[in-house]
Amino acid sequence: MKIYVIYGGKNAEHEVSVKSAFSILQHIYYDYHTIIPIYITREGTWYKGSEVKKQESFHSIAELVDLKHQEEFSFNELIEEECLAFPVLHGPNGEDGTIQGLFETLNIPYVGSGVLASAVGMDKIISKGVFKEAGLPVLPYKEVKLREWKVDSQSICENIETHIPYPMYVKPVNQGSSIGITRVLNRDELTEAIDLAFDYDHRIIIEKGVSVREIEVAILGNEDVHTSLPGELVKQKPFYAYEDKYLNQKVVREIPAKLSDELTRKVRKMAAEAFEVINGSGISRADFFLTEEETIYINEVNTFPGFTINSMYPKVWAKTGIPFGDLIEEVIQLGMR
Ligand code: DAL
Ligand code: MG
Repeated sequence: MKIYVIYGGKNAEHEVSVKSAFSILQHIYYDYHTIIPIYITREGTWYKGSEVKKQESFHSIAELVDLKHQEEFSFNELIEEECLAFPVLHGPNGEDGTIQGLFETLNIPYVGSGVLASAVGMDKIISKGVFKEAGLPVLPYKEVKLREWKVDSQSICENIETHIPYPMYVKPVNQGSSIGITRVLNRDELTEAIDLAFDYDHRIIIEKGVSVREIEVAILGNEDVHTSLPGELVKQKPFYAYEDKYLNQKVVREIPAKLSDELTRKVRKMAAEAFEVINGSGISRADFFLTEEETIYINEVNTFPGFTINSMYPKVWAKTGIPFGDLIEEVIQLGMR
């Protein structure tokens, strides 16, 4: 089977996607597949590289981006032959249903969730509404739209403050990897953070910040859903920004998370439920908050979670008994079904 590994993308998580693709291309089973890399620039142009064979696999992340000196990609290729699209893309225009819609309209089988699950998973407001409806607990939140903010920012702040105590988190609705997110302690910080979040989206979400542990569970499957052992992002400070996650390697992951058997069972069950509620397929990572009182809240489901060698998704599966190469193969098989 010819597999098009697609990475980069027109969004702020571009670099994370390239890192995920690099790890995947280093571990994919070349004996079974013909692997063609496709790089999407930040501007949205697609470039095709030559077939990758394990022996001549990429040596650095920069080489993956260098494809842009090769030929521009034509969709006719995907349409004309039997192939599988493997979108290794995070964030808008990749993980949000848009590219999935393109594959659907062209009848191209692809890895991961469909249009609806991708769109719902990416949207922090819609997904929370769907989780609440299904009885999955979520922390209090408020939505602010840019057009409302432009009219009367003062009363929007007052309204937020009457519903949510400080500290709060201000986030763009459609974004990942902590981009555009700020933890705020007072009105001045709130106003500044809202302005920043609007650089990334025209809708933002304000969430109650509680002192919590962050627990993550990986999900694998289509109808038959499997969950991993939970992992924990062990925090030395309240909030990890993009730089901490990807540049300084500051994040400590504890796998499995130190949880009672009962909590482990509960969080895994909630992860499977959340995946089913959004109608997910293939892979996802469900992220949770666990309070000191042992209440679990769902934060979000990432339909294409970080897939670098240091990312939680492959790491929790490795501890659960599925090594990186087998994991990629399983994800590919799930995409073909
Ligand atoms: N959005 C990043 C890649 C994650 O959820 O892992
Ligand atoms: Mg996310």
